[in-house]
Parts: sequence; C-alpha cells; structure tokens
Amino acid sequence: MKPSFPSSSSSSSSSRRKSSIAFYIVPLFLITSLAIFYEEELTYILKQSIPKSQELEISEPQQESVPAQGLKPVSERQQENISAQSLKSVSERQQETISAQGWKPVSEKQQETISAQVSEQGDVLPFAVGRTEEGCDVFKGMWAYDEASTPPYGEDDCPFMEPKLKCQANGRPDNAYQNWRWQPHGCSLPSFNATFMLERLRGKRMLFVGDSLTKGQFVSMLCLLRDSIPRYSRHHKHYRSHSIFAAPEYNATIEFYWAPFLVTSNCDNATFHRVLDRIVHEYSGSLDMHAQHWNGVDILVLNTYAWWQPGKKMKIVRRSQGKKYIRLMNAQDAYRLVLKSMVSWLENSMDPQKTRVFFTTMSATHFRSAEWGGKRDGNCYGETTPILDPTYWGSGSSKGMMEVVTEVLGASKTPISIINITQLSEHRKDAHVSIYRMQPYDLTQSQLGRPESNADCNHWCLPGLQDTWNELLYAKLFFP
Ligand SMILES: *[C@@H]1O[C@H](CO)[C@@H](O)[C@H](O)[C@H]1NC(C)=O
Ligand SMILES: *[C@@H]1O[C@H](CO)[C@@H](O)[C@H](O)[C@H]1NC(C)=O
Ligand SMILES: *[C@@H]1O[C@H](CO)[C@@H](O)[C@H](O)[C@H]1NC(C)=O
Ligand SMILES: *[C@@H]1O[C@H](CO)[C@@H](O)[C@H](O)[C@H]1NC(C)=O
Ligand SMILES: *[C@@H]1O[C@H](CO)[C@@H](O)[C@H](O)[C@H]1NC(C)=O
Repeated sequence: MKPSFPSSSSSSSSSRRKSSIAFYIVPLFLITSLAIFYEEELTYILKQSIPKSQELEISEPQQESVPAQGLKPVSERQQENISAQSLKSVSERQQETISAQGWKPVSEKQQETISAQVSEQGDVLPFAVGRTEEGCDVFKGMWAYDEASTPPYGEDDCPFMEPKLKCQANGRPDNAYQNWRWQPHGCSLPSFNATFMLERLRGKRMLFVGDSLTKGQFVSMLCLLRDSIPRYSRHHKHYRSHSIFAAPEYNATIEFYWAPFLVTSNCDNATFHRVLDRIVHEYSGSLDMHAQHWNGVDILVLNTYAWWQPGKKMKIVRRSQGKKYIRLMNAQDAYRLVLKSMVSWLENSMDPQKTRVFFTTMSATHFRSAEWGGKRDGNCYGETTPILDPTYWGSGSSKGMMEVVTEVLGASKTPISIINITQLSEHRKDAHVSIYRMQPYDLTQSQLGRPESNADCNHWCLPGLQDTWNELLYAKLFFP
C-alpha cells in the first residue's frame, strides 16, 4: 500500500512537489554557499595574512581608522585629565555648600554598633547591617500578584524616568505588570527603605556598568530613591558614556557607565550604538580605558551579556608581542577571557574592606512565544501575565555562558555578590516594553498591521521588573 501522503497520489502533484522543493532548495543553497563563502573568505584572509597563527594582524593605520567606527582611543594625557575630573564627582564648591548646610553623618557610635553586630556573626562586608536568614535564597521564589504593595512609584512620579521606558505613556493598555511582587521561598525580602540606603551612601559613589539593560536598572534605582532626594544634579562625562547623578544632601553619587562588553569594543559609543560587526578587545589593558573611571567606587554593579552572541564566532582583538590581531573566537571562550580580566582587575584595584562588587546575571528575552506554549510566531507582544512554570528557561539565556559566570566569578579572590536575576526574569514575558516605547522612526503599514514584528522583548517597562532587581541588590548589600 502506498503511503497516504496527498502529494504522492498523482504524478502531476509529485512533479509540482519536486519543483516546490527546488523552490526552497535553490535559495537555501545560495544562502548557505554565501555564508560558507563569507566564512571561507574570512579564513582565507586570516590564512593569507598570518599563515601560522591564522590570525589577522591589524596594521597601525587600520587601528587609527577604528575611531571613525566609534572607538576613540583617548590619548594618555587626555585620559589623565578625564580621570582627574571624574574623581571630583561633586564640585568642591558644591561640597562646601553641602557641609555648610550641616548634613548629619551616621554617628560613629551607631556605625560601630552595626559592624560589631556583623563581625560577631562572621565575615564583615562593607555596608552589611545584618544577614539573610540561614538557608534563604532570595533568588528562588515566585511572583505574587499584590496590588497593595506595588508598584513602588508611579510612572509619572519619577523625574529620572527615560521616556522610552514609560510604557503607559507610550500607550500600553494593561498595567498589571506593575503589580507583581517577588516572593522568595521561605523568607521575605527586606523592604526597600530609600532614606536608610541614602544614609549609608553618604560620601560614597555607587556605579552601574554595562549596557542599556543596566541603564534601566540604574534608572530604576534612582526612581526607588527619589522621594528621599530633595535636590539633585545630573551631568554626563566622557562623551555621555558616564552619567553622574549627585544627591548633594548626602554627598552621594549614583552613576552609570556605558561599556556593553566591559572591555574596549567598537560598540563603546554611548549615543550611537554600533550593532553589526562587533569587535571586542581582549588583552592586557583593554579593560583599563573604562575601568579607570570605576576606581574608588564604593558600590560597583557590573553586567555584560546582551551584546554577546552565544553560539557564534565573535571578532576578538588579541595582542601578542606588541601587535594586535583579530581572531574569530567562540563567544563563550571570549566571554570567559573578559570575565577573567574583570576579576583580575577587581582583585588588583578594589579594596574589599571598603568596596562591594555585584555582578548582575543575564536578563531574559521573550522573542519566541512557542517556547512558553504560546502562539507559533508570536513574542512578548500582547502578553499580560507571567509564566508560572518555576523552571521555565528560554533560549535567549545561554546556559553555557551562565556556567562561565559561575566558574570565573566563583574563583575570584575578591568577594563578588551575584545578583542572579535570570530565572525570575525568565518568568516575566509580560514585563517588556514590547511596542510601547518611543519609536525612533515612523512605522510602516506592514509594521502597523503586524505589531509584534516591532516589539522590543529585551528591555523592561518601569515601574516593573527591574525594581525587583534592585530590591534584591538592596537585600544583598545590607543583608548578605
Ligand atoms: C584638561 O581639561 C581642562 C579643563 O577642562 C582643559 O582646559 C585642558 O586643555 C585639558 N587638558 C588636556 C591635556 O586635555
Ligand atoms: C527608613 O530608614 C530610616 C533611616 O534609617 C528610619 O528612620 C525609618 O524609620 C525607616 N523607615 C521604615 C518604614 O522602616
Ligand atoms: C564627599 O564624598 C567624597 C567621596 O566621594 C569625600 O572625599 C568628601 O570628603 C565628602 N565631602 C564631605 C563634605 O564630607
Ligand atoms: C558617537 O556617535 C555620534 C554619531 O555618529 C558622533 O556624533 C559622536 O561623536 C560619537 N562619539 C564618540 C565618542 O565617538
Ligand atoms: C543563577 O540561577 C540559575 C537558576 O537558578 C542557575 O542555574 C545558575 O547557575 C545561577 N547562576 C549563577 C552564576 O549563580
């Protein structure tokens, strides 16, 4: 008996099938051969230039041309100037005004009591005032719908909000995404007390380093602290890479520094992000151009993930015998090298008696609704409730890259607190800005007809998920 495929029932439809196969095969072949050609051409170039190491040497003139692509090597003298400027986060005149107003530092006696309490319990970490209950992992829990205690602020009540994160103002019809509270299993998160936090930030700098997702976390932190900040000033440095927010009443700064790969890359322009053809520099000193601005910071919150391309070969600039080479490298291997550079910089430059270092793990994306049992070709667009499966993990978060974080940060000699927000963010398919963001361009008819094609399932609405990231940061800062 013939198998009952409809197409095999007649010869005419069988030939139609053949031609329709050809219809798919031919372009597929073209695409594949183009891709192979591209790879081979690259390998060919690599082999041509440096037969032995298969590496491509960048000649100095080419190096010079890199700045045009957004990577501007700053002369050493300029650099000194910049760092000298950035050390003075609040101008001296401003500082004088502050002390003239007579701000009250936490009394030394109070401070002593606090650290005495902590040291009795074991290791003393700066900023710690207590401990999380034994056996409580604040990153393991569930989302609880709670209109009574959320959201922590209104979208319009936060003067620091970026317009593109204001989903309601940008037309989002539902707002339940603002009302989910993170409930760890078997314990509770300490409630976020802005005054308490600012008092402990007196005379200190808190700096977030990373990409636009990290910037969302920085904005969320400012919004969470806003009610306790009577006056503030804002300024930008180093071609807007460095945003500094100063609360003069507390002589404190909360800052954001754009460095999507932490090390130098051709994506370092903070206003004009180069997205295609990413080139990451990974050699001794390639972190310093950015890290010089992090020196002396009291609370450092680092992140890098979204700009990596897991599973792909990435272009990594390496250095050997004074020369620079571009090397195609598996993203995971390159990620390991960069995290190792980060850790060794922290070990050499940070004083663990004074500074706390945090690393925020990868944020989640929701571009394929089929992964959570939704529509076949949908994404986060139209999603209004979290995913309830506690183990749900989408394809956007590479487990391999996560293992690298565990491996490299686990071997650090300086304490790094991991803010592991990946699993809890995986659940929040409802919390992205989706199409409710500022559009950089007018939408086409086809985009209007199929709104999901224009959804941003990467960034998060505020108030929203990223406030929880900061509540967890708060918990780990004061109750490690
Ligand atoms: C350093 O900064 C000052 C003030 O911004 C400027 O006048 C001076 O030219 C700068 N020096 C260098 C070497 O860039
Ligand atoms: C918040 O912290 C301040 C300063 O430590 C304290 O006076 C106040 O009582 C705290 N508020 C709450 C609600 O715990
Ligand atoms: C303000 O904080 C800085 C450190 O960021 C410190 O050097 C300075 O002495 C503080 N100013 C006052 C008036 O305490
Ligand atoms: C960043 O890109 C913009 C737009 O191309 C350009 O005007 C600006 O000078 C660049 N900044 C740096 C630091 O290269
Ligand atoms: C973060 O949490 C996930 C899920 O619980 C876990 O698989 C992963 O190993 C954790 N990552 C780190 C760096 O601790």
